[in-house]
Amino acid sequence: MKPLAERTAELKQSNIRAITLMLQGVDGINLGQGICDMPTPDPIKRGAHEAIDGDQSIYSYYGGIQPLREALLEKARTYNRIPARGVDDIMVTVGSTGAFVATMFTLLDPGDEVIVFEPYYGYHCNLLTVMGAHLKFVRTEAPDWAIDFDTVESLITDRTKAIIVTTPNNPTGKVWSRDELERIRDLIVENDLYAITDEIYEYMLYDGHEHISLASIEGAYDRTITLSGFSKTYNMTGWRLGYAVGPEAIIAKMGLLSDLIYICAPTPLQHGVAEAFEMSSTYFTEMAAAYDRKRTLMCTTLEEIGFKVPWPEGSYYVLADFSPLRDRFEGFEDDMTASRTLVEKAGIGTVAGRSFFADDADGDSCLRFCFAKEYPILEEACRRLKAAFPPA
Ligand SMILES: Cc1ncc(COP(=O)(O)O)c(C=O)c1O
Repeated sequence: MKPLAERTAELKQSNIRAITLMLQGVDGINLGQGICDMPTPDPIKRGAHEAIDGDQSIYSYYGGIQPLREALLEKARTYNRIPARGVDDIMVTVGSTGAFVATMFTLLDPGDEVIVFEPYYGYHCNLLTVMGAHLKFVRTEAPDWAIDFDTVESLITDRTKAIIVTTPNNPTGKVWSRDELERIRDLIVENDLYAITDEIYEYMLYDGHEHISLASIEGAYDRTITLSGFSKTYNMTGWRLGYAVGPEAIIAKMGLLSDLIYICAPTPLQHGVAEAFEMSSTYFTEMAAAYDRKRTLMCTTLEEIGFKVPWPEGSYYVLADFSPLRDRFEGFEDDMTASRTLVEKAGIGTVAGRSFFADDADGDSCLRFCFAKEYPILEEACRRLKAAFPPA
């Protein structure tokens, strides 16, 4: 048979699937995949039921239903302080992943260079690679994941087209500061670049950290596409609803592309999620407080066991370094071995560090833990970890 398209050659699965399969055999707890198993809020579910019962079943406009776009415009202007000019600066997509795909195809040609910060969210890199972009990596290091702007600058060439920012970050939990975002703004303006900013964890913030949208920084909006979604904020990863905010001319092309790829996001579910904007704002503070409690439990447990733990400032992941455990326990030679050891000895699933780096060796002493679990389940996971790897 003729070979598959060349663009698929580099595609590789992280160890998430293998670990999920191993866990099934041991009644394990999965702290690997970034899925929250809490319930979707009732008003959203009711809204979707009503839309289905009311036969809101036809394609919507490719940019989304009007009430949802209006609600998102208001949210972008108030919560994010983004100077969006009108609903035509907003589009609803199939997950923020759909928004990323539309952005990428709208802004980039094969061969264009894109700057990505490591550790990264793998989907960004895999998608960019599939479409033929060349990735340039800027490494950041625990515990504060500071950005070396000299390195960023040194990587910019005539072929550079975009910079990817993810704040709060998956997997590090870094929340970008105003100063850092202003420096990115300077770079994109001075070098005529675009920024694609993924802000899907924008409501999960700890220790007083503030979420700042790059597009809210003066002068950045016209070259920035902001991506976010409902998956994480409202525990609805399977509904596949996200959105993009950006200058109308770019969003219009993104809409045409999305129309070609999947026409529109599921209409009845768009009606359901529009109800989220009727919910009290205490929803966000309560959610952040609940995650903060889980973060404390997760990070304290890992520290007690002996991991080096850069506490996340936002999101619901921690990328912990297990190298200090090597002296006390077997099975921590590298990240792949360590993630198997955690399944075998404690029934706990994690993601191997190499999933977040271009070079496997850079992630070979860390594991990502996701603490978006019901509290009692997380407690049980921590109990199992401590029983299997007793603190020194
Ligand atoms: C940084 C980041 N962006 C996007 C997504 C996926 O979002 P969605 O479900 O809206 O496609 C994830 C999921 O883990 C993520 O971590």
